[in-house]
Amino acid sequence: MSNYYTQQLPWTPNYDENAIPPHEIPDPLTCFDGTKITTPEEWFSKRRPELMAAYRKYFYGEELPLPDKTEYTLLEEKTILNGLGIRRQIELKFSMTSGAEYKIIMLVYLPAGKKDVPVFTTLNFVGNHVVEADPDIIPTGNIGDLATERGSASRRYPLDLILGKGYAIAAVTHHDIFFDDQDTGWQNSVCTKLFQLDPEKYSAIGAWSWGLSRMLDCLTAFVPEVDPEKAIVCGHSRLGKTSLWTMARDERFKMACVNDSGCGGAALNRRLYGETLFSMEHCNKFGFWFVPLMKEYCLTPEKLPVEQNELIALAAPRYIAVHSATEDQWADPTGEYLSTYYAGPVFRLFGMSGPESETPPPPETAVGNELSYYCRIGKHDIVAADFAHYIDRADQLFGIKR
Ligand code: GCU
Repeated sequence: MSNYYTQQLPWTPNYDENAIPPHEIPDPLTCFDGTKITTPEEWFSKRRPELMAAYRKYFYGEELPLPDKTEYTLLEEKTILNGLGIRRQIELKFSMTSGAEYKIIMLVYLPAGKKDVPVFTTLNFVGNHVVEADPDIIPTGNIGDLATERGSASRRYPLDLILGKGYAIAAVTHHDIFFDDQDTGWQNSVCTKLFQLDPEKYSAIGAWSWGLSRMLDCLTAFVPEVDPEKAIVCGHSRLGKTSLWTMARDERFKMACVNDSGCGGAALNRRLYGETLFSMEHCNKFGFWFVPLMKEYCLTPEKLPVEQNELIALAAPRYIAVHSATEDQWADPTGEYLSTYYAGPVFRLFGMSGPESETPPPPETAVGNELSYYCRIGKHDIVAADFAHYIDRADQLFGIKR
């Protein structure tokens, strides 16, 4: 029988519900000093700040600074998909008075001829060139074999669907903000190259999240077709963890689409089902996604003052859709569901609603409203079926009619 203290090397994941150790899921409305929050004002003045401080300290780190100067340059504009959309490639150049400079390239796809469009703000794995096979896309990120990589993640960017529904989507490569590697990432990150930050206080997820905020700055200032009041942060897997943290720290985002985010994302840490904080730190070299302090708590997640339902709760009173996939047991779909369910009290404080039963819904059955959950049948991935559901939610919540 698994318990908190038998997590050790060699480690094997637990996939037995009956072997989950007894654990408590904290009430997001009860403060660390025991005070119970009863009004939205108290949530914003007391509870929200203390939860944010805890997530910064134990998980995702301090807020990265702003660059002294930011410049945007349009590198390319092209009509795509027989006139359905327009693609832009925009360079974001950040500079400091010290002379340090840092550049990233953002892809933006806009539905042709539309104004005030909602936008999915995303990071992509590998490079911008995996989004579409078009050789005009400037390769970014961890450039490998272009011949095989170009367009290799196009299923994760179903442009026909997204643009056809009147949504825009923007993408930057996570590697270009913080190279996704435990050994070389910190040296190849905005944390070092632009800001010379203290590695004890920052994390890769924190840096990637900073990048999403800079993307939103650019979308707001430089892409007039976008309605920043309908900005959605969307991410899959490690970038789903990042989208969840981004929703908490950047309140300009009005909706989060958190896909298969698993451990360190939506899944409850204390269930020890599938991936755990311990395995991230000790088996898979993923510890750098969090602040170094996490290593001290990864064996005893019950000692952390926060649980991931409280991270989801930080999205309130905005909108959040949490997705799982049936075959993605590593990410613990039930833990992702329970975490969503137990974020509910904060949404209800704002007159909003979420899932109503502690029992997960059957696959492909959406539950909740402003706080919602959906489990796709299939593998760990983000595909058109996920976007179809995210768009459906966003249409309803933003009151979009067509
Ligand atoms: C690994 C990791 C997960 C992560 C995933 C991904 O499976 O264990 O935590 O979400 O990679 O980002 O694809």
